[in-house]
Amino acid sequence: MLDNNVINDIRNSVDIVEVISDRVPLTARGKNYFGVCPFHDDHSPSMSVSREKQIYTCFSCGATGNVFKFLQDFENISFIEAVQWCADLAGIPFQLTRTHEKKNEKFQTLYDIYEIAQKFYQNNMNSKEAKDAKQYLKDRALSDEAIKTFEIGLSLEKGNLLTNLLKQKNYEDKDLLASGLVGEQENSMQLYDLYRNRIMFPLHDARGRLVGYNGRAYHGETTNKYVNSKESPIFKKREILYNYHRAKEAVRTKKCVIIVEGPMDVIRAYTIGFSNVVASLGTAFGSEQALLVRKLSSNVILCFDGDEAGLKATKSALEEFAKIGIDPKIVRLEENMDPDEYILKYGHDAFAAKIANAMNPVEFKEFLLKANMDLSNSVDMANYANAMMEEIKKMKDEVLREVSITKLSEDTHLSLEFLKSRIGQSNEPKTIPVFEQPKKKLGKYEKSERNLLYYMLRFPNAIRMYDKKITHMPTDRYRDLGFQISSFFRKYGYIDVADLLTELREDSETVSTIGEISMLPLKEELNVDEIEDYLRNIKEYNEKILMDSYRKELAKSDNFDRKIELAQKLVTYKKRSEEENGRD
Ligand code: UTP
Ligand code: MN
Repeated sequence: MLDNNVINDIRNSVDIVEVISDRVPLTARGKNYFGVCPFHDDHSPSMSVSREKQIYTCFSCGATGNVFKFLQDFENISFIEAVQWCADLAGIPFQLTRTHEKKNEKFQTLYDIYEIAQKFYQNNMNSKEAKDAKQYLKDRALSDEAIKTFEIGLSLEKGNLLTNLLKQKNYEDKDLLASGLVGEQENSMQLYDLYRNRIMFPLHDARGRLVGYNGRAYHGETTNKYVNSKESPIFKKREILYNYHRAKEAVRTKKCVIIVEGPMDVIRAYTIGFSNVVASLGTAFGSEQALLVRKLSSNVILCFDGDEAGLKATKSALEEFAKIGIDPKIVRLEENMDPDEYILKYGHDAFAAKIANAMNPVEFKEFLLKANMDLSNSVDMANYANAMMEEIKKMKDEVLREVSITKLSEDTHLSLEFLKSRIGQSNEPKTIPVFEQPKKKLGKYEKSERNLLYYMLRFPNAIRMYDKKITHMPTDRYRDLGFQISSFFRKYGYIDVADLLTELREDSETVSTIGEISMLPLKEELNVDEIEDYLRNIKEYNEKILMDSYRKELAKSDNFDRKIELAQKLVTYKKRSEEENGRD
């Protein structure tokens, strides 16, 4: 079992502000720090970090947590790994086994199935039947070392070998089907291997867990060159970037991430020393993938295929990145080549030069415009100048703006003064916009519940008063939180919101309620009279709800005795509340 006291000590010995600001730029404002939330697509600073409470909350997407939760979600690691990480940071000896975690993993069966499949597919590479596949890989100049590093496997032509193997190991049919590796014959309900005769490129999630395959046909006629695993509880194609988990470290040290389309491009780049490369897997580059990339680096280079499809993919990826405040650089390869082909044909130096000279967005615009224009023609020239001015207007980096304006002036022979007056100042706001917490309209009763919880999150006294007077709160999510605070206090004898978040890490709903409550702009000190007020309101609210239910029952009931009983209760209640109101 986990000893939460040890874990709380570890949490206490690192500062959440330091951990987060290593990863996301933070600006101090008042008592809190603000930054762009890494967990949703946004580029305004809606995440607030509190040094005092040691928690963060995003006003926009609601993400809330302590330092463990931040590390888990940012680094895509498990809770235990986050604890270990902090312990290492603080120099606290801590060694936890993984068994505890494994048992708690909801989809462990699927991960296990993939582990078996992976061994099986990799073993096939050494079998007699692998001759053609090996020849194919050799023809494509893939070294044995690359095959090993990228754990490339092979699915065989004959039989339903994987299905049988898994059945032998007593996996249930439903799990086999859920894995996305096994299909079911429509008529006979027979299970069969979905992958036959393909080179298997394993796909991992951001945490590095094997979750799917990209299987490439390597001989004979097939309709699909590549087949991806079907979506499964552990494989969400939108959230996958090929090689992400391996590239992480290299991206951090090189401070740059290169995005290509396919596994072959990644592997080829790796063989010439580029290990900071991930692949989009040919899908439209989506917002989830962009967020994953941003966690590694905001210095992004798009190096998609040189063909029209690659150009289209580049433009849409640029839009996706713009939404989260990133301006990637762009590489375009000639002769419709993809990085794999380009490197094979022109070698390391040529590719390295391409990467080093990647275009910024303005240069890319220039590249696109010039491809279709004749700048010796004045109409084209005017159109070109106008389009470029529009593009420069969007630029955030002031130095880059100046450089681009100078370059445009040289290109078009328009004067610097003229261009500058037309382009004007950057329209990007320089100061951080103050984020207003959205105001929800709450009635007096809900406000009382909420405010009471705010103080309960910080003051034992408020918890004691609650314990004495209230059995439960009327609003579901507030009731849950009230109950949890009270139990935490009983168990540990103190209250601390960051430690409470550790305790409730599996209960995402209550965690988000904590986010909502703890960021309320209420007074810092506990005022006993105010707490009494809240308690009174909550009791009143509970009673009101009860009476409403009596009223409803009275209207519906056919039982005469019950009707009388209900009516009496209602009369007593009415009298009492009139008396109380009269007294006030
Ligand atoms: P490409 O068609 O450019 O393949 O698709 P490629 O990378 O050049 O592959 P090779 O060199 O022919 O082996 C780019 C990526 O899109 C995905 C694959 O991940 C592929 O690497 N794709 C492509 C599919 O998922 N299905 C397909 O049918 C085709
Ligand atoms: Mn390609």
